[in-house]
Amino acid sequence: MGKLDGKVAVITGATSGMALAGAKLFAQEGAYVFITGRRQDALDDAVQHIGRNVTGVLGDAANLDDLDRLFATVEQQKGAIDVLWASAGVGAQSKLGEITEEHFDAAFSLNARGTLFTVQKALPLFNDGGSIFMTGSNASLRGFPDWSVYAASKAVLPAFARVWVAELRDRRIRVNVLTPGQVSSPMMEEVMTDEMKAQFESVIPRRAMGRPEEIASVALFLASDDSSYVNGMELVADGGATVI
Ligand SMILES: NC(=O)c1ccc[n+]([C@@H]2O[C@H](COP(=O)([O-])OP(=O)(O)OC[C@H]3O[C@@H](n4cnc5c(N)ncnc54)[C@H](OP(=O)(O)O)[C@@H]3O)[C@@H](O)[C@H]2O)c1
Repeated sequence: MGKLDGKVAVITGATSGMALAGAKLFAQEGAYVFITGRRQDALDDAVQHIGRNVTGVLGDAANLDDLDRLFATVEQQKGAIDVLWASAGVGAQSKLGEITEEHFDAAFSLNARGTLFTVQKALPLFNDGGSIFMTGSNASLRGFPDWSVYAASKAVLPAFARVWVAELRDRRIRVNVLTPGQVSSPMMEEVMTDEMKAQFESVIPRRAMGRPEEIASVALFLASDDSSYVNGMELVADGGATVI
């Protein structure tokens, strides 16, 4: 028996990295999974990689019309949602003094605004007792130089979660934040310089970055009844980088 048998899960930004690993695990655990991303070829590859019980929906999680199309597709195909993992996010470095409006707007329009509207637009389809979680970042918990805009755009998520827990209490919908540390997703590997990688690894007690599968198993915990008494929390999975 799977931990998500009969559940319908929606995961944004899931054609790569942690969310793709999570989507595959959710499907293996019995869920039907809707995944999103902006590139059709990557979406097709991800659907093929997951193999079964999956639909790919093309769309930008910062675009409200695309979110409407996503949830219209879910409603048409399955009628309801049990699990939402709002994972789509962007991160780039910029030093204080060099931050541009474009840099600020790109981070906040997806990480903060897009995440909020993803949750809000999913709610009418949500079954009572469901689980919502959003991808934060441990960049919001420490002072990593040059990451202030990204850190701040992720720092709003635990605040959203606390208030939404209160607002959704009568529907027994749980809301949490999954906060990874440095994880070597394919896209991270592409943009990371050797210097950045060394800097990331230096703050992790085991001196090795996380793997997407190590975050997928945390996501499964938050999605399933294993976390039935975890609500309004920020679950940090960063190998201990934040505590030392
Ligand atoms: N990797 C890390 O070290 C790390 C650490 C802490 C937090 N995070 C957060 O974890 C999440 C996933 O990161 P990752 O490194 O695992 O992923 P990743 O390998 O960078 O992949 C990002 C995924 O999101 C999709 N995506 C990007 N922008 C999108 C948008 N506007 N709308 C819909 N989909 C979008 C991408 O596909 P398309 O390009 O086709 O849209 C891709 O599927 C992000 O929120 C990130 O900020 C990452």
